[in-house]
Amino acid sequence: MISITILLIIVSAVAWVLHLVQPSTKFKRLGALIPGPKPYPLLGNIPNAGVDSKRINSVLSGIADKYGRTFRMFLGQDLMIFLSDPEDVEFILSKSKQLTKSRNSMIAGKPWIGEGLLIGPEDKWKMNRRRLLPAFHLKIIENFVPVFHKNSEKLIEEMSAFVDKGEVDITEPSAKFALRNICETAMGISLDSISDDDFYSKAVGELNAIFATKIFVPLFKNKLFYNLHPLGRREKQLLRYIDSITEKVIRSRRAECRKWDVEDGNDEHLAEGQRRRLIFLDLMLHIQKEDSSFTDQQIRDEVNTLMFAGHDTVSATTSFCLHLLSKHPEVQEKIYEEINAILGGSDRPPSLKDLQEMKYLEQVIKETLRMYSSVPMIGRCANADLQLKNGLIIPQNADIVLWLHRMHNDSQLYPNPSVFNPDNFSPENVQKRHPYSFLPFGGGSRDCIGMKYAYNELKVGLSNLARNFIFLPSETQTELYLITEIVLKTDSGIHVKIKRR
Ligand code: HEM
Repeated sequence: MISITILLIIVSAVAWVLHLVQPSTKFKRLGALIPGPKPYPLLGNIPNAGVDSKRINSVLSGIADKYGRTFRMFLGQDLMIFLSDPEDVEFILSKSKQLTKSRNSMIAGKPWIGEGLLIGPEDKWKMNRRRLLPAFHLKIIENFVPVFHKNSEKLIEEMSAFVDKGEVDITEPSAKFALRNICETAMGISLDSISDDDFYSKAVGELNAIFATKIFVPLFKNKLFYNLHPLGRREKQLLRYIDSITEKVIRSRRAECRKWDVEDGNDEHLAEGQRRRLIFLDLMLHIQKEDSSFTDQQIRDEVNTLMFAGHDTVSATTSFCLHLLSKHPEVQEKIYEEINAILGGSDRPPSLKDLQEMKYLEQVIKETLRMYSSVPMIGRCANADLQLKNGLIIPQNADIVLWLHRMHNDSQLYPNPSVFNPDNFSPENVQKRHPYSFLPFGGGSRDCIGMKYAYNELKVGLSNLARNFIFLPSETQTELYLITEIVLKTDSGIHVKIKRR
């Protein structure tokens, strides 16, 4: 009798596990119709993909070279469909009702950025995007320009130490520039006041790499396995450190805001206060006062999201841009001439209006984002079957990866894609292309909320560097080996030589 019971339990358990791991035959059939490497039993294409985030870019590029703009990978029982045709990308981004954010990124990012804007579930996201949008208005960003300028002076100081020192890696000063800006504008504290600033920056970088590895390695979705794995333990350790800082900052900012309220005698101080000292965290604390459903946890998630989304992206773009400029002295000269024309040769800090006039520099930044798209891929999950223009059907529950970096380097969209040509973004040339052929900040309803912030920050940093230095190419690092994490990286930093102008 006991043995029959045990047998029944085992059979039920196996049936339950099979039910969990076996996708429907329709899902499998539709997935199999999409071009892609032949899957292995149970593992799918995991052996093709490997588990090393350092190789993801080259592995996927090889697969895309063979199968084209639309291909699929089975990762275990999950189906990932990669798209890089602008028409498909437009179609997918216009279907917001039939999509959620990629489940993989929601699971992988949750311990760090929780239900913040980037990966929050649709209903929560909708409400919070509306609440937070005013904080990204150009009028608020205008207040940040002096912060960007002050931090660009620190960047110049750090770069000065590299002058005439031969080849140097500029990724660390670029990262600090971006981190200082986001620390001050999101949390209202200077990076130097965080006890060990280098560790903070490294922790954010490491969490980024862990986030990407978790997305691409299905085994890490198993909580028990992941928690026992050294990567899971490392993530916990880093998060304890990051969260302790975020929480400390929120507490002290709340106390300061209360003090200002008392000093000002009422809550109406905010309009005046906004002009003086509004930062993203203040706005969130203000929202919380009016609406207690905006919890402390939500504030922590949003602060961590901004620290993540607003730091590495800008730092990567700055470094990639300096790499490209180092190889193109004529572009550096054009930027320099433009700045001189706008600022009349003076060394005064640029205003928002000056930044808006830096049209050529904006083309250079866009061309950098085309060649080295800081966010190389964005993910969605299909809530319904979706038919692409070529007739292929993306089955419900499939993960969709919009491979922006691949699209931006497609020779059918950009002739000679490996040539740095800021004229690709002259108004006439932009007109000639599909509007979805350039999406470094994503598109549709969940596009980047920080795009204007990023362009202005980058313009301040790069224009001030161009006013002070000339960048020369590295002789040893002639090509960059790209690593696809959440943010595009290289395997060995970015090396240039620096001369004073
Ligand atoms: C060069 C710099 C940047 C690039 C290339 C970039 C790129 C992107 C992309 C592609 C997305 C869409 C992700 C998706 O569709 O899944 C996104 C979302 C987001 N970005 Fe950025 N970003 C940059 C800078 C910033 C900055 C400076 C901030 C904040 C100050 C920021 C905050 C965010 C947030 C909060 C989201 C989520 C928006 C939402 O879903 O409502 N980003 N970014």
